[in-house]
Amino acid sequence: MKLLDGRTLLANIKEELKSEVAAIIDHNERPPHLAAVLVGNDPSSLSYVASKEKACHQVGITSSVYQYPENFTENELLRVIDFLNNDQDIDGYIVQLPLPPHIDPNKIIQSISPDKDVDGFHPYNLGRMMMGQPSFIPATPLGIMQMLERYQIETEGKHCVVLGRSMIVGTPVSILLSRKAKPGNATVTLCHSYTQNLKEICLSADILIVAIGKPHFVTADMVKEGSVVIDVGIHRIPDSTKEKGYTIVGDVDFEEVSKKTEWISPVPGGVGNMTIAGLLMNTLKAWKQRNIRQNIY
Ligand code: GUN
Repeated sequence: MKLLDGRTLLANIKEELKSEVAAIIDHNERPPHLAAVLVGNDPSSLSYVASKEKACHQVGITSSVYQYPENFTENELLRVIDFLNNDQDIDGYIVQLPLPPHIDPNKIIQSISPDKDVDGFHPYNLGRMMMGQPSFIPATPLGIMQMLERYQIETEGKHCVVLGRSMIVGTPVSILLSRKAKPGNATVTLCHSYTQNLKEICLSADILIVAIGKPHFVTADMVKEGSVVIDVGIHRIPDSTKEKGYTIVGDVDFEEVSKKTEWISPVPGGVGNMTIAGLLMNTLKAWKQRNIRQNIY
């Protein structure tokens, strides 16, 4: 078993981005600026946004957070989005999901300017991605593709099974892996809650990508010997033996599954880091697109 080590990859990508940002600053340009909008106090969202801020700081990207209470209205949020769309000092921004139930996430996502949509969730970017045209690719799928590319995992002609069809991970990953590109050219099966014979399908996977949101869902009897397993899940499980009172686990039973795989991504230390890498890459791309349009860079 070999580890798909997201921490090391993130450190490498941060070094690459840091020197690009340093070159921008050397040219007396404003560094890239990423903003995050957070509504409410969801602990996972607070922790994601804090990690994104820290990573931005480490590479020299300016970061700002717009935080609002749980009872913030949809109209108030739309006004914030309008402000961010028009602020020339912000290259890209994300609206952290999930939003409180009284806010329609689709309405919000569709009002984000596509050229600042560094999450790649706007229909314009998702549509372009589907057509194989340049676009912002959602951060977690982009991070997973980077992981496959940088570890030189062959995807061409392989059977890739994706568990979970969310708009954030499963659906875009299935599109990217089946695209005529490198990595890509895979035969993809996208599984969800209505899939029959799930175990048999998983057993036929050369590459299994698990984004199902259930702790330890994938067990060793579902995994082919010598396959590649990428675990997107992140769950806090109460654990009184730990100082923090919880352990972090993924959607895969790492301990048992790792005995059968050739490559596997751990949790923590795997895809979570790659999501941050994807977001930083998209932010620099947004900066470049703005400045190329303005003939500065
Ligand atoms: N919530 C969980 N993952 C994500 C993500 O990648 N982007 C945003 N905006 N919210 C999320």
